[in-house]
This record gives sequence, structure tokens and C-alpha cells, in this order.
Amino acid sequence: MNARCRIAAAAMVFAATVYPVSAQNKAADGFKAYDGLAVGRQMLAEDNPGDLWVERGQRLFNDKRGPKNTSLERCDLGQGPGVVKGVFATLPRYFADTNKVQDLESRLLTCMVELQGFKREDIVRDRFGTLDKDSELEALVSYVGAASNGLRMNVRLNHAQEREMYKAGEYAFYRRSGPLDFACVTCHGESGKRIRLQELPNMTKPEEMREVIATGWPAYRGTHSTVRTMQHRLYDCFWQMRLADLGFASDLSVAITTYLNYSANGGEIKLPGVRR
Ligand code: HEC
Repeated sequence: MNARCRIAAAAMVFAATVYPVSAQNKAADGFKAYDGLAVGRQMLAEDNPGDLWVERGQRLFNDKRGPKNTSLERCDLGQGPGVVKGVFATLPRYFADTNKVQDLESRLLTCMVELQGFKREDIVRDRFGTLDKDSELEALVSYVGAASNGLRMNVRLNHAQEREMYKAGEYAFYRRSGPLDFACVTCHGESGKRIRLQELPNMTKPEEMREVIATGWPAYRGTHSTVRTMQHRLYDCFWQMRLADLGFASDLSVAITTYLNYSANGGEIKLPGVRR
């Protein structure tokens, strides 16, 4: 997508999100009933710019790339080598080869390093796209995420490490910390709350959690003119809490995602999402 298209898309999101606030306040779709912004989001979802990231991600997945000139067709994201369908529904999960619980981003990172020979630090440096440079991970996550569309979130906690990560994530969600003494639940524990025009989902309610996870991230963010992944979303909320930067693909980030995704089990996947 060139810079002009991006600006146009961003303007569209802005217009779409601002206009309907006064026009329409009753949407019959669950937690968004209070939220006129949902109407704008709906309009955009019908023509989601994120689909471009899905297409680019598919090419990146199938093309032979990197120092080892290999595609990701041997990358095991949890459902067997090269399988993308159903992957998003069951991540994070434990992987024996790394002896770690991994989310989609950290697992793709493993494959790009191990199979394709990319340097970990290069991928991590370019993890978040900018107007000048697209992120390969953001495209890959969009492609793999969309491959589970229509399926339901079904994260299992069979392995001891998966249960530990869930517990750690739950702890992090409720634990107040940092100079502002915020926990995630400080901002995400009540329905119908907003910061300025931004709706704050209540993530202690399963139906709102399912919406956030199964139809949320990866999401095309109008204000960023790109798709962002859950790793970025969490990084952003850590920043809002004035905590130390959340390490990309760190255990803490995967623990929180394990907690969130498990709590969203049953939610029907529809990705990429569209967000402000
Ligand atoms: C200071 C308030 C605040 C705190 C604390 C906070 N967030 Fe957020 N969170 C936000 C805002 C604001 C948004 C974005 C809403 C928007 O722009 O539409 C958001 C969005 C999100 C979303 C995406 C919601 C959606 O509908 O797609 C997730 C997931 C999330 N936060 C997780 C967390 C987690 C996990 C923590 C704790 C580590 C946390 N947040 C802490 C304010 C906060």
C-alpha cells in the first residue's frame, strides 16, 4: 500500500469513527450497544484494508526467502508443518522443540530464524511497521490469523507450562504496578467505559473478551495506517501504564496472551479486526 492510499485509509477511519457518535447509539450487537463507534467500525470492516496485509502475508509465507532461501512451509505453528488453518484458535501453546509456550508472533519468529536463517534482532527491530517500512511479521500474523476465520477460539491448558503461563498472565492482569499504580483491570474491568472517544472493553466479561480476542488482533489500526498485532497492543498498554517496555515475544507478553486467549475460548474468529 503506498503512502497516499494509507493516508486515505486513515482519513476514512477517522471519518467513519467520528461521524456516527451522535447519529447512532443503539447497536444490537452485545457489548457495543453503548457504542456508536461500532457503526463506523462495521462500515470499515466491510472493506477492511487489513485484507491487503493478509495477501502480503500469504506471499511472505510461501515465497522462498532469507539466507537459507526457504519458505515457511515447514514451519510448525502447532497444527503440523505448513498448516495455518486452526492455528490462531489454539495459540499460545507449548512447543517441545523450543521447550516454551509460544504465541503466534514468537512462534513465527522462531521459524523465520531457524528455517529461513533471518537474524532475530533484525526481525525484532522491524516488528512494528512504519510509514516507510512495512513489517513482515504484521503481514504474516494477518495471514495466519485470517486462516482461522469461522473457527472458534479453543486454547487448551494441557501442558504444565501452559497452565503456569495462564496463571502468570492472570496475575499480571490483576496486579497493580508502576508509577501510576494501574493494573490492566483498572482500565479494563468495567463495561461501558471510555477514555476520550476510545471504548474500553471489560475484559472480565467473557463475551467482551471473546469479541476483543477473536475479532480483534491482528487489527487494521486506522490511526497507525497499518495492521498491528496483539504484541503491539500489549506494548501500547504497558506504555499507557508507564511500565518498562514490554519485551517483544517475552515470556510476560506470552503469559498475558495465554490468559486473554484462553478466557476468549468459544469466540468465533474473524480477523483481521479493525480498530481506531
Ligand atoms: C490506562 C488505562 C489502560 C490500562 C491500565 C490498560 N489498558 Fe489496555 N487499552 C487501553 C486503551 C485506551 C485501549 C484502546 C482503546 C481504543 O483505542 O480503542 C486499550 C486496548 C486494549 C486492548 C484491545 C481492546 C480491543 O477492543 O481491541 C487489549 C487487548 C488491552 N488493552 C489489553 C490490556 C492489558 C492486558 C493491560 C495490562 C497489561 C492493559 N490493557 C492495561 C487502556 C488501558
